[in-house]
Amino acid sequence: MLCLLVTGGWLGVIAADATAAPAPAKSTEPPVTECFESREGYTTVTRVENAVPQYGYPNVKCSNRTSKVWWYGDPYDGTIPMGDMPVLAADDPTRGDFANAVVKPREPHLMYFNMDPEKHCAACHDGQTVPFPKSNKPRELGMHQDIVEDSLQLQHGRGAIWCLDCHNATDRNSLKDRQGAKVSFNQPQKLCGSCHGQVYANWRMGIHGKRIGSWKTGGKKRWWVCTECHNPHTVQKARFDPIKPEAAPELPRGMKNADHERTEHGGN
Ligand code: HEC
Ligand code: HEC
Ligand code: HEC
Ligand code: HEC
Repeated sequence: MLCLLVTGGWLGVIAADATAAPAPAKSTEPPVTECFESREGYTTVTRVENAVPQYGYPNVKCSNRTSKVWWYGDPYDGTIPMGDMPVLAADDPTRGDFANAVVKPREPHLMYFNMDPEKHCAACHDGQTVPFPKSNKPRELGMHQDIVEDSLQLQHGRGAIWCLDCHNATDRNSLKDRQGAKVSFNQPQKLCGSCHGQVYANWRMGIHGKRIGSWKTGGKKRWWVCTECHNPHTVQKARFDPIKPEAAPELPRGMKNADHERTEHGGN
């Protein structure tokens, strides 16, 4: 399954069986304009008409069936520079290949972060309204059950980690890595990579996760960051939320079925 996730891979077609679902009837309904890219609810995109004016393309097209983005007119829409991408070793073969690396920022997608448009999480976590925690030990919380149902049973790390291994105790608008360095919500790869070094190395090289854009070394590419696919609070029960597959594409005109796909290559 993972082999489908290489550069430019299509996440949505993992289990596509050419005959499983009928192609959707041509619809006269207006196009879906709110859809998601990978993790539902946390990667929402709004279709904008004429986002690529020279061709008249929208930024994205959304599937009417799954509400998933299935076509990009502008793959860099809404992206920002990824920022520094720490190398793991001085002889890293991909060193220097990231000048044009871009990502979609995560902050606009976080509900609690945007409750107060200026202070963000610190609207409550200012040390007064909600006191800074005295210890990093797991305890029952009277808040955020919509994000973490049971804080004593956090579904990440099999009991070895807790909220304050990732969240900054006194600056809640940022995360912190394993060495205690501040990490922006827009660069979760630095947090995740501080514990999952091997996956991070693979991700940088385009072996894990997903990138789209130019294939050229140093060409402009968009990387999907870790939390666009993984919910950090539930990975233990669901490493990744699979996306419903789209229906098989319509057959070319004049072709009655796809039986030829069932014979081996060359028909022998
Ligand atoms: C509306 C107020 C409010 C906002 C906004 C808010 N929190 Fe909280 N949060 C709380 C309260 C209250 C607690 C403590 C609950 C307890 O001790 O029972 C808490 C606890 C936590 C904890 C558990 C660790 C600790 O401090 O004891 C984490 C982690 C956390 N919040 C993260 C965040 C993040 C990240 C944001 C912004 C994205 C955020 N919170 C925004 C009210 C808020
Ligand atoms: C493995 C690291 C990690 C742990 C452990 C962790 N979080 Fe988080 N948390 C994150 C990251 C990363 C995000 C941002 C997610 C994103 O980009 O979608 C986040 C986001 C949040 C948010 C904001 C969600 C929103 O939509 O506004 C809250 C609240 C929160 N965490 C609370 C907690 C609480 C409470 C705990 C402990 C019971 C906890 N987290 C444990 C990494 C972690
Ligand atoms: C403080 C260290 C730490 C951080 C930071 C951290 N993790 Fe983890 N993660 C763990 C541990 C420990 C496990 C459990 C490994 C095991 O069971 O063998 C785990 C498990 C996982 C798993 C499930 C792996 C499996 O084999 O089932 C996923 C997926 C994952 N983490 C993703 C992330 C993502 C995404 C982030 C960043 C938001 C992150 N982790 C940040 C420590 C961490
Ligand atoms: C485009 C989506 C996507 C992105 C981006 C992504 N992952 Fe994954 N990841 C997956 C899928 C799919 C699996 C396999 C899930 C399964 O087996 O259930 C996986 C598996 C994992 C695992 C467990 C298996 C293993 O190989 O150890 C960890 C840990 C993990 N990812 C961490 C990360 C981290 C850290 C990042 C960011 C640096 C990241 N992932 C980025 C989709 C993604």
